[in-house]
Amino acid sequence: MDPAALSLLLSPEGWALLGALPPYDEDRAMAVSERLRREGVDPALVAAALTQSRLRTRARAKFSDFADGMLFTPEGLEQATRLTVAARHAQRYAVAGCERVADLTCGLGGDAMAMAALGLRVLATDVDELTAALATVNLRHFPDAEVRHGDGLALDLTAEGVDGVFADPARRTAGGRRRHDPASYAPPLDDVLAVRAEVPALGVKVGPAIPHDLVPADAEAQWVSVDGDVVEAGLWFGPLAPEGPGHSALLLGEGGATTVRTPDGGLDAPDVGRVGAYLHEPDGAVIRAGLVAMVAEQVHGRLVDPTIAYVTSDSLVATPLATSYRVLDVMPFGVKRLRTALRERGVGRLTIKKRGTAVVPEQLRKQLDLRGEVDATVVLTRVAGAQSAILVERV
Ligand SMILES: C[S@@+](CC[C@H](N)C(=O)[O-])C[C@H]1O[C@@H](n2cnc3c(N)ncnc32)[C@H](O)[C@@H]1O
Repeated sequence: MDPAALSLLLSPEGWALLGALPPYDEDRAMAVSERLRREGVDPALVAAALTQSRLRTRARAKFSDFADGMLFTPEGLEQATRLTVAARHAQRYAVAGCERVADLTCGLGGDAMAMAALGLRVLATDVDELTAALATVNLRHFPDAEVRHGDGLALDLTAEGVDGVFADPARRTAGGRRRHDPASYAPPLDDVLAVRAEVPALGVKVGPAIPHDLVPADAEAQWVSVDGDVVEAGLWFGPLAPEGPGHSALLLGEGGATTVRTPDGGLDAPDVGRVGAYLHEPDGAVIRAGLVAMVAEQVHGRLVDPTIAYVTSDSLVATPLATSYRVLDVMPFGVKRLRTALRERGVGRLTIKKRGTAVVPEQLRKQLDLRGEVDATVVLTRVAGAQSAILVERV
């Protein structure tokens, strides 16, 4: 979006048009556009409004109904924290007793909105002028939220009376590629971490692939998954990490929230042994947090291989930390053998899960050439170092 399009949208006519558009439907967008232009609406406004309408529809996945009152850029939406996760961030500041929180890199305001909704006074900054303008629109319902265009690291936090700081540095290049090295985040992670010398209540959202050796020793690092997809890691300091430093995983899903963290005294390496009657696939956040041993402990199980994050057990103990499967068959991996086993079962549709093997699922599926009616799941992995195929069904 360019500034001209934004001012068109913010004109009384533009805002009314945006609110009156029917729910976005790709197949009807052209017809709606033509009708509006025939009615004499400025073509630039029509284009801007339809783009926003499309983005609002996409944004419902992150912002549900709130999306209908917000403005977006594609990049800003892509980078925004979904409200369910932002609410968890905000809660840490509220519980810690913070009153005025600076969101140094507010983007379109996903996190800042959640903070403001909890009654925190928010000072939000973004270095990109248009983004800051859109955040101002998105935070308009909160009189105690202020958005400024500028470098968040240049804020005088003490003079501003800030007692909590949040930052979600940009992790994409202008071309949209992800930056994995925290030194190339904008702003760089180390510059943000330095803020805790002045304001101890610091929280930073980072990429979930952050190597454990880059997590500061005084941080609670929490990996978060939503419906099984790992979305972020958060580094929480001082009063925002009331249980102290360590690793934790937060699993958000339809069933609610589950949190698990490293126990005091650390974790013993789990046992390794033969495949039992059940196989458990730990949630990605649990794996990233290095807490697979917690799953093994919960299900009274063991690893199938010391280097692979599959846990097996002899009896079924349900755990929210993993997806559990009943083991139907275990065999050394080979296309012929697997094909025979699947054909005997009448399998036509195969879900292929793999970990620790170079097999390309699409190629394998072609080689198997299955024609039956039955659905099945096969896990390709190493068992005690040997490539194996484990036929499973979800429990
Ligand atoms: C990942 S986005 C933030 C998303 C936000 N947490 C949300 O939920 O909508 C990162 C933002 O940081 C901004 N940014 C990068 N460097 C900055 C700086 N030094 N000061 C302020 N903002 C900065 C970028 O313009 C971008 O909008």
